Amino acid sequence: MGLSMCPFMSNHLLLFLLIFHYLNSLSFSTQPLCKDFESFALLQFKQSFAINGSASGDPFAYPKISSWKAGERNDCCSWDGVLCDRVTGHVIGLDLSSSYLYGSINSSSSLFHLVHLQKLNLADNDFNYSQIPPSIGYLSNLTYLNLSMSNFGSQIPPEIFELSKLASLDLAFNPLKLQKPSLKSLVENLTSLKLLYLMEVDISSPVPHILANLSSLTNLDLEGCGLYGEFPTQIFKLPNLQVLFVGYNPNLTGYLPEFHTHSPLLSLMLKHTGFSGKLPDSIGNLKSLYKLDIGDCYFSDLIPTSLGNLTNLIDLRLSTNNFRGQIPFSLANLTQLSHLDFSYNAFSPQTLTWLGKQTKLTFLNLQAVNLYGAIPSFLKNMTQLAKLSLASNNLTGQIPSWLVNLTHLTTLFLDDNQFTGTVNFGLFHKLKNLTHLQLSEVHLSFPINSTFEASFPKLKLLGLTVDLHRNKIGGQIPKWIFNMGKETLSFLDLRFNLITGFESFNNTPRVLRWGSLLSLGLDSNKLQGPLPIPPPSIAIYSLRYNTLIGEISPLFCNLQSIELLDLSHNNLSGMLPQCFSKLSEFLLILDLHHNNLHGTLPATYKEGCRLKVMDVSYNRLEGRVPRSLSNCKMLGILLLGNNRFGDIFPPWLGKLPMLRALSLRSNGFQGAIGKPESILEFPGLQIIDVSCNNFTGKLPSEYFQIWNSMKVSNASNLTYMKVIARTTSVEYNWEFPFDYSIVMTNKGIQTEYEKIQGFLIAIDLSSNRFEGEISEVIGNLKGLHSLNLSNNILSGCIPSSLGNLTGLESLDLSQNKLSGEIPQQLLQLTFLGIFNVSNNHLIGPIPQGQQFSTFPNDSYLGNTELCGIPLTKKCKIHEPLTQPQPNSKQDEVLNFPSKSDWVVIMMGYGSGLIIGFVIGQNLTIRKLEWVFKNLRRQ
Ligand SMILES: *[C@@H]1O[C@H](CO)[C@@H](O)[C@H](O)[C@H]1NC(C)=O
Ligand SMILES: *[C@@H]1O[C@H](CO)[C@@H](O)[C@H](O)[C@H]1NC(C)=O
Ligand SMILES: *[C@@H]1O[C@H](CO)[C@@H](O)[C@H](O)[C@H]1NC(C)=O
Ligand SMILES: *[C@@H]1O[C@H](CO)[C@@H](O)[C@H](O)[C@H]1NC(C)=O
Ligand SMILES: *[C@@H]1O[C@H](CO)[C@@H](O)[C@H](O)[C@H]1NC(C)=O
Ligand SMILES: *[C@@H]1O[C@H](CO)[C@@H](O)[C@H](O)[C@H]1NC(C)=O
Repeated sequence: MGLSMCPFMSNHLLLFLLIFHYLNSLSFSTQPLCKDFESFALLQFKQSFAINGSASGDPFAYPKISSWKAGERNDCCSWDGVLCDRVTGHVIGLDLSSSYLYGSINSSSSLFHLVHLQKLNLADNDFNYSQIPPSIGYLSNLTYLNLSMSNFGSQIPPEIFELSKLASLDLAFNPLKLQKPSLKSLVENLTSLKLLYLMEVDISSPVPHILANLSSLTNLDLEGCGLYGEFPTQIFKLPNLQVLFVGYNPNLTGYLPEFHTHSPLLSLMLKHTGFSGKLPDSIGNLKSLYKLDIGDCYFSDLIPTSLGNLTNLIDLRLSTNNFRGQIPFSLANLTQLSHLDFSYNAFSPQTLTWLGKQTKLTFLNLQAVNLYGAIPSFLKNMTQLAKLSLASNNLTGQIPSWLVNLTHLTTLFLDDNQFTGTVNFGLFHKLKNLTHLQLSEVHLSFPINSTFEASFPKLKLLGLTVDLHRNKIGGQIPKWIFNMGKETLSFLDLRFNLITGFESFNNTPRVLRWGSLLSLGLDSNKLQGPLPIPPPSIAIYSLRYNTLIGEISPLFCNLQSIELLDLSHNNLSGMLPQCFSKLSEFLLILDLHHNNLHGTLPATYKEGCRLKVMDVSYNRLEGRVPRSLSNCKMLGILLLGNNRFGDIFPPWLGKLPMLRALSLRSNGFQGAIGKPESILEFPGLQIIDVSCNNFTGKLPSEYFQIWNSMKVSNASNLTYMKVIARTTSVEYNWEFPFDYSIVMTNKGIQTEYEKIQGFLIAIDLSSNRFEGEISEVIGNLKGLHSLNLSNNILSGCIPSSLGNLTGLESLDLSQNKLSGEIPQQLLQLTFLGIFNVSNNHLIGPIPQGQQFSTFPNDSYLGNTELCGIPLTKKCKIHEPLTQPQPNSKQDEVLNFPSKSDWVVIMMGYGSGLIIGFVIGQNLTIRKLEWVFKNLRRQ
């Protein structure tokens, strides 16, 4: 007995429900019992599903059908979720929402025998991508149908339109399509609708005008439906419409109408659409409105004073539009506001005087709205504030210490203002609920030897970035910082400070112990000593531009969430741990350039390698390029330059479909480059730099023939080459665009380009021992912007086909044994800014006109038989173009170059377009933009 009770005892709730329903059925014992066939249909329906705990998301979900039992005394009208007609006993309502139902459903389901159903709710279950069964049309008396969040898939069947009595239809949050038939047919047929919820259903059409005929409609939600075209303004004027949500349709345009008095609108949500124009003055007529969200649209002009008449507003969001002028004082009257977001608008400079009486505010976002002046003391009265951002304004004065009396604060963003004075970071420890804190560009001091062991227990995000030119956080990060958000901190940004290390971090290995840390930025500090080891949760770990020394610990190989590892510009030494290649299963971006690493590259990259960028240039790495890198099918950028690799040209890299940039420069590569094995090698290559090696043999003309991606110019691609690492915490999707740098040589000068424009196409084969002629084939690479073949042993003529490379901006053929004349076809190179053929055996007249009038003498030095401007040597008139002329001693003396001349010339960028495709070369520090987006809908 005791044993058999156990399963029941374990579920008090169920037992309670059973008793409750038993009593319930007793008290209505006068009601007719349910019909056998309906009871049977329900039991059959029950049997066609599994109970699966993950099928429902509602925390109060439970398996209603578990209590359904066959048997004589069991009246199905008493079953959980079943409602019968009092008179006829027919099942007229079925509510199995959040019931853990899992399984497929089709037209033969016994559900459709329940033809008397008026209400059917199957929301929040998992029907495993079933189509909504066409036999839903049999349930012709349905007035209420809710299939939301239930994983129904494919096209919505037309039979649903036969349910002409439907007043409420909710199909939201399913992978459904409403295309054939369309929203238009739905509206034509279901004319009694009061509520229509289709969020996230793929409609992909304009909004039909006829929707404005649904005069009963009170609630319309078409968020995220892929709507486009212009929204019919008449819909705003539907006589009963209270709730209108059409946000998250970025291609949907429209305008707000003139609103009449007595509009019943309560809530209007247009966020993230293409709506534009003004907010009409008549918006003041929407007296009942309590929520207005038009964030992330294209509204402009002034905010009408009449907005202050909407005194029922609780939630007002105007973020990210083009509003200008002053925020009207009338808004002072909106004293019921709980949520207010004006961020990112082009308001004229203003103080906060229009604010003050909103003591119910819990959310206040005034980021980037051109505020100036001090933080006003009325904020003291907003004691309910949980989220406050005043970031990116011109606020001045001190950060007031009373701010920390707003103890409900979970989010506080004050960065990017002009605050003066120094804030003791210790102050903030009073904010025990704080989860997100951004104080960047605020002068902070840290309490020394603080004992805040339990500070900020809930912190998830901390940004203390400091601008380069301002005061900085210096010295050691105190020990207690490790206790901040020990289990919660996900984002810590301490870039551009003067941090030298972590206090009492004497334990070795130096392991950071924030259990939830996703992203740690310590770029451009003064970190010394060995490299700290991040926790296993880390996704983004960036410590570039510090002075870290010592080896990279093998403990790094255990990081299984890491996507971006940037340790560049440090002084790390030793060998890379051999297990390091394991990280390539997780890493998208590995940047170790400018360190002091030696030894070989770890050799085993497996199938499934995710690497997109690998930059190990400027180290002392040696040995061969691992053949298994050919498993890294996503690899786009491979920079191995300025190391001591000794290998032959790695043709197996040609199998990498995404490879765009390859640099092997300044290593010990040798031998002939040879011929491709197939015409499909290096299909995406745009930049190849093998300069300063010991390559020999002929130029790789066969490769020139197959590098198809160099044959077209895509100058409209104005984006920079970048890779985006993404990581997700509960609240945020973080995006970290990573622009990578590359070193290239122009006119003998090595330059590190911080960003590379997406269309750049360049070949640098300079400073090797390539010999033989330059094949005419090179003229096929019509997309080339930069070609450097200098300092080889090339002979023969300059191919006239170079004249086809009409996008060429830099051409360097200097320091070879080229002979013959400079082809007149080069006059077609109208973008050429750099041209160098010095130190060859060229003869005859220099082409005249076009870009050639901009090149200096130095471009031609050391070719004694060249003549014409800019050289002093004149060409003989009617000189037969093909006949070499005797030396002129005089010119030889004048023009003979000293070896250093060609190295130092930096001028003559002519058209300036070189600067156009590689920007920012004057900056020494490349900034990683930390863009984060809050994609969560509030
Ligand atoms: C549908 O409703 C109508 C009107 O209320 C009623 O006469 C009819 O019997 C119902 N049909 C079914 C199958 O219950
Ligand atoms: C929907 O309405 C259209 C036009 O009003 C009609 O032709 C069509 O038959 C209806 N469809 C259904 C399924 O009732
Ligand atoms: C918006 O339109 C653009 C261009 O037609 C299209 O590429 C994009 O997918 C559309 N976006 C949505 C959400 O429908
Ligand atoms: C707004 O209220 C003011 C009084 O505060 C009134 O004069 C004005 O007409 C109202 N405007 C609208 C559009 O209701
Ligand atoms: C606030 O409302 C009151 C009463 O309706 C009105 O007299 C006053 O002008 C309004 N204040 C502003 C700044 O519009
Ligand atoms: C804060 O509220 C109190 C009481 O409502 C009021 O007297 C005071 O003026 C308010 N302070 C500010 C700065 O508005």
